[in-house]
Amino acid sequence: MEQTQNTAKRGSFTGKIGFVLAAAGSAVGLGNIWRFPYLAAKYGGGIFLLVYVGLALTFGFALMLGEIALGRKTGKSAISAFSSINKRFSFVGWLASAVPLIILPYYSVIGGWVMKYIFGFAFGDGSNMATDAYFENYLGNVSEPLIWFFIFVLLTAVVVFFGVDKGVEKVSKVMMPVLIVSMIFIVVYALITLPGAWDGVLYYITPDFSKFSVMTVVAAMGQLFYSMSLAMGIMITFGSYMKKDIAIDKSIHQIEIFDTGVAFLAGLMIVPAVFAFSGGNEAALGKGPGLMFITLPKVFETMPGGDIIGAVFFLMVFLAAITSSISLMETIISILMDKTKLNRRISCIITFGVILLLGIPSSLGFNVWSEVKILGLQFLDLFDFISNSVMMPIVALLTCIFIGYFLKPKTLIEEARLKEESFTAKLFKVVIRYVAPVCLIIILVSSILDVFGVMKI
Ligand code: PHE
Repeated sequence: MEQTQNTAKRGSFTGKIGFVLAAAGSAVGLGNIWRFPYLAAKYGGGIFLLVYVGLALTFGFALMLGEIALGRKTGKSAISAFSSINKRFSFVGWLASAVPLIILPYYSVIGGWVMKYIFGFAFGDGSNMATDAYFENYLGNVSEPLIWFFIFVLLTAVVVFFGVDKGVEKVSKVMMPVLIVSMIFIVVYALITLPGAWDGVLYYITPDFSKFSVMTVVAAMGQLFYSMSLAMGIMITFGSYMKKDIAIDKSIHQIEIFDTGVAFLAGLMIVPAVFAFSGGNEAALGKGPGLMFITLPKVFETMPGGDIIGAVFFLMVFLAAITSSISLMETIISILMDKTKLNRRISCIITFGVILLLGIPSSLGFNVWSEVKILGLQFLDLFDFISNSVMMPIVALLTCIFIGYFLKPKTLIEEARLKEESFTAKLFKVVIRYVAPVCLIIILVSSILDVFGVMKI
C-alpha cells in the first residue's frame, strides 16, 4: 500500500540527464566552493587533494552506488528503505535523516553571507569588501547576518512550499555551465596576473607526504560525504525517484565528475590567490570558514569590472547553494509528511521555524556568543563537526554493515545491473564489506579523540 502511494506521489525524473542534473544540483553547492578550498588550504594542499580524489573514486563511488541502488530497489526514502528490509535497521534511517536537520541551519547562515556579497558587489562596494577586516567586521554585526540568513531560509522554504523543487533540474541546467565557465575565467585571470600565484598552484597540486596525518583523511572523508550528499539519506531518496532503465554506475561517474571538478576548480581559484596575497603564510592558509569571503574579493578587486564579476560569481554560488538547500529541506519535509499526517504546507512551515531557531546560534556565535565554545568550537564549527565528523561516519558505517552483511552486496549489484565479475562490482563488494568499515572505525575514533584533546593527530 505504502509502496503504491509512494510511487504515485513520487513521480520520477525526466530521464537520465534529469536525474544527473538534479543529483548534481544537490551535490554541487557550498561544500564544493566554500568548504573544499579552505580544507585543502588548511590540510596541506596537494596531499589533501590526493587523499580526497582517492577516496572519491573508491569509497565515494561505492557508497553512492549503495545508496542509490537501495533507494531504487525499495522505492522508498531513507527510514522506510532500511526498515522495509530489516526492521532492526530503521534507526539508521532515522539517524541519517537527522543529518540534514543539523546541516541546513548553518548551511543557510553561510548562504546568507553569500547573498550579502552578491549585493555588496552589485552596489559597487567591492573595494571596501577587499579590505582585510571587512569580513570579520561584517560577522561582528548581530542583525545583518541574521536577516540574510532569514531571507535564505525563506527563499528555500518558498520553493519547497509551492512544490516547485522539480525546477532544480532547470536551474541546474543553466547554473552549472555558467558557474564552471566563470570559475575557469577567474582561475586563468588570477594565475596570469597575480604575482606568486604559481607557488600556490604548486602547493595545491603537489602532495607533500610530510603533511599527511590521520586528520587529513578524517577531513577528506567528512568532506566527501558532505560534498556528494552521502550518509544522510538524500541519495536513497533520489534513487527512489530514478527510473529502472537508467544505468546507475554511469550516472554516478557523471555526478562525481561534476562534483569533484567544481571543487577542484574552486580550490584552484582560492588557494593560489591566498598564496599571492600572503606569500603562503600558514595563518592565512588556515583561515577556515571565512577563507572564500576574504580571498575572493581581493582577486576581484584586481580585475577590471571586478564588481560585476564578483556579483555574477556570488550569484552562481548562491544558485548552487540554494539548489542544495532545497534538497536538504525537501528531505526533512518528506520525512515529516511520511511519518505524520501533516500536509506539505504545514510541514513546510514547521520546518521553516525549526531551521530558523537552530540557525540562530551559528550566526550569533560570531558576535554576541563568540565566547561560548563547546569542545573548543564555536557553534557553526560545532554543528559542522557533529554532522561531518561524527554522524555521517556512523551512518556510513552502519549503511556499509547493512548492505555488506544483511542485504548482501549481490542484491544491489543486480539492481544496478552490473556484471558480477566486473571490476566495478568487485570494487563495490570489497569496499562496502571490508575497506570502508575498517577505515570508518579508525576515522571515528581518531576524530573524537582529537576533539577531546586526548590525542593530537
Ligand atoms: N552537497 C552539498 C554541497 O556540497 C551540501 C549538501 C549536503 C546538500 C547534504 C544536500 C545534502 O554543498
